Amino acid sequence: MAGRKGELMTETSIKHHLEFENISKCFYRKDTNGITYALDDINFSAEDGEFISIVGPSGCGKSTILRLIAGLIVPTTGSIYLDEERIEGPGIKRGLVFQQHSLFPWLKVEDNVAFGLKGKKDKQEIQERVEKLIKMVGLEEFHDSFPHQLSGGMAQRVALIRTMINNPPVFLLDEPLGALDAFTRMNIQDELLEMRKRNPQIMIMVTHDVDEAIYMSTRVLIMTPNPGRIKKDLKIDLPYPRNRVSDEFMEYRKEIMKELDFDTNENK
Ligand SMILES: Nc1ncnc2c1ncn2[C@@H]1O[C@H](COP(=O)(O)OP(=O)(O)OP(=O)(O)O)[C@@H](O)[C@H]1O
Ligand SMILES: [Mg+2]
Repeated sequence: MAGRKGELMTETSIKHHLEFENISKCFYRKDTNGITYALDDINFSAEDGEFISIVGPSGCGKSTILRLIAGLIVPTTGSIYLDEERIEGPGIKRGLVFQQHSLFPWLKVEDNVAFGLKGKKDKQEIQERVEKLIKMVGLEEFHDSFPHQLSGGMAQRVALIRTMINNPPVFLLDEPLGALDAFTRMNIQDELLEMRKRNPQIMIMVTHDVDEAIYMSTRVLIMTPNPGRIKKDLKIDLPYPRNRVSDEFMEYRKEIMKELDFDTNENK
């Protein structure tokens, strides 16, 4: 495979690197015959081992960033590179868990989870990995159920482990834990961090939960809307595992709330 600078690369020589170069994205709106400037002048890069959270108000372009990386849409201007190769469509190196779960309705939970491993030979190993993940998210009793028999939160957990099982080098999460209760949510946050420790990949997660962003991330991108821009790229300089109630944690919380204009009483 030829890289951006023309050199040959092999899978083993790659330390994964993602690069956004001057990205903008406009959408044409049929109803108003106008244009939505979803993203403007987005520049950032990420390496293996980084866990980046994206926070910002509704409509500021968070999902659009993930969909661009996943290759589901193309930028209006600029280019995105993964390992020096321009992203031009979907690929197996990037796994996306959608904001709304997207399970295959005709497959049982266990078959949904195993779907990404289709073609792998060792059925026994597949079965073990599937069962381990189903157990991790507390759905042992539902492995034979179909998606319509699950609650929204359960379905979201299945969607999450279905992507987890593939261990993609770039793991994209669009508010994956939003529909979960607080305890399941905290458990899965720790599972995701474990996964990152075992296999340091590039993880990019959209979340509305500032605490979740600080607890999990090495960096937080704070965005503003109309057009969607990165207002601040904040490094979270705390060792893992993090203490959710430490003074340093609270300081980061204050800083992010301030950037989001939630630091005054009028906004509360
Ligand atoms: N396919 C599309 N066609 C037209 N407009 C779109 C499309 N996708 C996104 N947009 C517009 O682009 C802007 C950014 O959308 P995006 O979904 O990225 O926001 P978001 O930050 O993920 O919001 P939320 O927090 O509500 O999920 C919005 O104004 C949205 O209406
Ligand atoms: Mg979104």
